[in-house]
Amino acid sequence: MTGRNQTVISEFFLLGLPIHPGQQNLFYALFLAMYLTTVLGNLLIIILIRLDYNLHTPMYLFLSNLSFSDLCFSSVTMPKLLQIMQSQDLSIPYTGCLTQMYFFLFFADLESFLLVVMAYDRYVAICFPLHYITIMRPKLCLSLVVLSWVLTMLHAMLHTLLMARLYFCVDNVIPHFFCDTSALLKLACSDTQVNELVVFIMGGLILVIPFLLIIVSYVRIVSSILRVPSASGIRKAFSTCGSHLSVVSLFYGTVIGLYLCPSASNSTLKETVMAMMYTVVTPMLNPFIYSLRNRDMKGALQRVICKRKIPFSLWC
Ligand SMILES: *[C@@H]1O[C@H](CO)[C@@H](O)[C@H](O)[C@H]1NC(C)=O
Repeated sequence: MTGRNQTVISEFFLLGLPIHPGQQNLFYALFLAMYLTTVLGNLLIIILIRLDYNLHTPMYLFLSNLSFSDLCFSSVTMPKLLQIMQSQDLSIPYTGCLTQMYFFLFFADLESFLLVVMAYDRYVAICFPLHYITIMRPKLCLSLVVLSWVLTMLHAMLHTLLMARLYFCVDNVIPHFFCDTSALLKLACSDTQVNELVVFIMGGLILVIPFLLIIVSYVRIVSSILRVPSASGIRKAFSTCGSHLSVVSLFYGTVIGLYLCPSASNSTLKETVMAMMYTVVTPMLNPFIYSLRNRDMKGALQRVICKRKIPFSLWC
């Protein structure tokens, strides 16, 4: 590699969001509020599920895992975005950029696998209610979670190592608000064919297989409900599965839309807005979608507060 006439760059510049300077403060306040909502909402879910023994069921343990993943997922991009918006220092070191990319991929994949695990859990609960306890043993639940972690770790590592092979020379301005894989690939001077192929194949596998598994579980759930229609059964099934399905469509809708409609060169704005949807909006909405309409969660909140004699005694 010696003798090549190129300077290897040591940092990148993140352009952030295409926001008019006059509106910078407004958007800063908005994103700060969204980030704080994400952190507090997801923390509340994790703490509630930990404290309340009635919620120590597979469904809520998976939900708690999903909240943890959401919390980390938005913490990978949001603090840096907020810092960029406020300080005008747009630089991010090379290693920082690859680290951000690694954790971004890691938590995005983890979210995707956890949604599959949650769909499987609902499928067993509704289609085999009598065998639920024997099928979803704690050991199986733990194995599913561990398997998700291992697969996502390997997948994120693969992309990060492939990215670390590339040379970046002149252009180091990323027109995005975080170190996105495809945005980085566009800047590289060396040949990115292998990377693009791996992104295409692995991205397809990691997105399409979980999505299909989820669709299959919900189709079976709906058909099993319709086979033996009872008003209370239908209401119960739709109240839990409806919330799951809205999370799934929000997450996969934006990610698959971004992935399957490859951008023309000038569609950075569209890409950024779509990325905003799944990095900021989905993790923020998840806790509300799951808990606002959920009687178990409200009951748990009430029990936890009353047991601890925290001064909200009007409620008890
Ligand atoms: C994740 O799920 C596993 C298996 O159900 C559970 O043991 C663990 O406590 C959960 N982790 C969190 C952070 O909720």
